[in-house]
Amino acid sequence: MTRKTIEQIKAHKNSGEPIVCLTAYTMRVAQLLDVHCDLLLVGDSMGMVLYGMENTRDVDLDMMIRHGKGVVKGSAHACVIVDMPFGSYEDSAEQALKNAQRIIDETGADGVKLEGGEDLAAQVKAIVDAGIAVVGHIGLLPQTAQDSGGFRVQGRTDDGRAQLMRDARVIEAAGAAAVVIEAVIEEVAAEITAAVGIATIGIGASAACDGQILVTEDMVGITGDHVPKFVKQYAHVSADIARAAETYAADVRARRFPFDENVYRPKKG
Ligand code: KIV
Repeated sequence: MTRKTIEQIKAHKNSGEPIVCLTAYTMRVAQLLDVHCDLLLVGDSMGMVLYGMENTRDVDLDMMIRHGKGVVKGSAHACVIVDMPFGSYEDSAEQALKNAQRIIDETGADGVKLEGGEDLAAQVKAIVDAGIAVVGHIGLLPQTAQDSGGFRVQGRTDDGRAQLMRDARVIEAAGAAAVVIEAVIEEVAAEITAAVGIATIGIGASAACDGQILVTEDMVGITGDHVPKFVKQYAHVSADIARAAETYAADVRARRFPFDENVYRPKKG
């Protein structure tokens, strides 16, 4: 099996075939998703989903690299992109390139993603010029949302709409291969998708985008009680795990488990 390249992801823009993306943080989950996806994102959402952090700001480069390695190991088909965590790229193009290079060298991933638009042109260009694929991320930016009005749907005002368009165009001009558009009203996501030559990947940004991404744990129903509007739960794994634990506990307490087939005995003969 050959792994999808970032060029093949870009080519979806012209073919019109939707790009299927999901997050993966571990080897086993990557193995399960790999054949079904064009792109796997090792998202810094892992801070909240796996580690119970309040937001994604405490995720660091070492965490991203550790999980990125696992996802690359568990996949053979999908293009693997690793998020650059908060604090690893904002200061300068040099800082961004040094850390992007570390991610690629130590994980073997196909590219990196960073959050931001117009303000990140120099960072995106430096990374792309070094031969590393970049996916941008505009709209709601979880790493900095708390500093800029909170977790709100974007693109509802004329200024917001114009800024999003500028962000997308600057990211494209700087050389990004694709851009994630998060929590943006349908009309604006459609306008951006029509205006740029790079693939748009929506999360809460409507079917007008060239592809879709969800956090896998949201998609399989393994997160908490709050399910964002843009999430469709295709499974209810939390309920399955709770039921399995309940049955296991009852079996252990009743001395039913281990069952006969689970017990080692001397070999016959
Ligand atoms: O960190 C993440 O999982 C992401 C996706 C939600 C796009 O950035």
